[in-house]
Amino acid sequence: MLFIINNARLLNEAGELVTGHIVVKDGIIQEVKFGESVSELTENTGAEVIDAAGKLVTPGFIDMHVHLREPGFEHKETIETGARSAAKGGFTTIACMPNTKPVTDNAEVVSFVREKARQAGLVKVLPYAAITKGEQGQELTDFAALKEAGAIGYTDDGVGVQSAQMMKDAMALAASLDMPVIAHCEDNSLVVGAPVAEGSFAERHGLKGIPNESEAIHVGRDILLAEATGVHYHVCHVSTEQSIRLIRQAKEIGIRVTAEVCPHHLILSEEDIPGLDTNWKMNPPLRSRRDVEACIQALEDGTIDMIVTDHAPHSAEEKARGMLQAPFGIVGFETAFPLLYTKFVKTGRWSLDFLVKRMTETPADVFRLSAGRLQAGAPADLTVVDLEKEQEVNPAQFESKSNNTPFGGWKLSGWPVMTVVQGRIIFREN
Ligand code: DOR
Ligand code: ZN
Ligand code: ZN
Repeated sequence: MLFIINNARLLNEAGELVTGHIVVKDGIIQEVKFGESVSELTENTGAEVIDAAGKLVTPGFIDMHVHLREPGFEHKETIETGARSAAKGGFTTIACMPNTKPVTDNAEVVSFVREKARQAGLVKVLPYAAITKGEQGQELTDFAALKEAGAIGYTDDGVGVQSAQMMKDAMALAASLDMPVIAHCEDNSLVVGAPVAEGSFAERHGLKGIPNESEAIHVGRDILLAEATGVHYHVCHVSTEQSIRLIRQAKEIGIRVTAEVCPHHLILSEEDIPGLDTNWKMNPPLRSRRDVEACIQALEDGTIDMIVTDHAPHSAEEKARGMLQAPFGIVGFETAFPLLYTKFVKTGRWSLDFLVKRMTETPADVFRLSAGRLQAGAPADLTVVDLEKEQEVNPAQFESKSNNTPFGGWKLSGWPVMTVVQGRIIFREN
């Protein structure tokens, strides 16, 4: 199968937008040609020509932190609906968290997730496995067996690993298998179950607040343990200035630490929460304006490597339980790129190239994936974006089973209109 995506706008080596075309053969990129389009009657006869009509074509987006909820919580999302939602957001590779029911803490669940993803036949789904059995923090899982089954790293996302000794043992074992440890950083002795961060919103509503230190204490601890064990340590959803300071220092002295940040922590602060609306409840919580600015700067200076969504679907019924009882989390796939494009690229703070790289190249490099670049020989995982298209976020139209988002009604530009995985169109806007 040969096809050509013609008339595309591509980011060249210098990060400039130029016209070009991409030749795809049997699911692999055969050629990326900057500076010219083809006419349908040239040497490539027999090829199907897809006219991108001047739209942006990028490497498929990669999201290294998502929750797909299957097995066990299929009322929130299934691997298929999650994959469909990801495809609509322009993602071609996603890495899913193990806090399912049962937890992905043994080889059978890893195989189940991979098989379901294969059956869905949409985006590439890379499973993480749990660090501890049932994410209970008591006993390590069988790291070697989980790697053998296809897990790409270990994490107890959803909760922090409370014991430093447990984390050190996990890191030593992961290092011996050349696998990363991915950490949700939260010290439970400081949190006491507050629904929002410390700050003006919590005070106004008489709520307890989650302090910044509950994240940063784990980051600091784990950096020391990563130094001791030599593991690749990846920090989930960084949200505080203090965590960033620690990661920056660690990188400066050569400790193998990488980090991610979510769109909501780059755009929203606790001051923006409009009222007791659980679509604004997520973990880590929205922090201060100062923390938001620190996250943006950390991404800009390379302290934070990549953007992830932490797509965390929950049903309307669960989210209707009130600020104290509702689960933490918001969906993320279908708004991520338009949000970031509108808030940072259209405003002139970032180049388009900078944003695209943080959703393609940097996650691919950090997790050693053969994805993330438009180059001959690479898998034809592509995203087509209409940068001019302006549209309001309509949660009722999400492909996700859930619609828990604080961004409903936001007017955004830069909507993905086509997603290609391994040369196959898996999403196309009509
Ligand atoms: O907001 C969150 N949602 N944070 C987490 O740590 C877990 C996630 C979920 O699984 O819903
Ligand atoms: Zn988490
Ligand atoms: Zn998560």
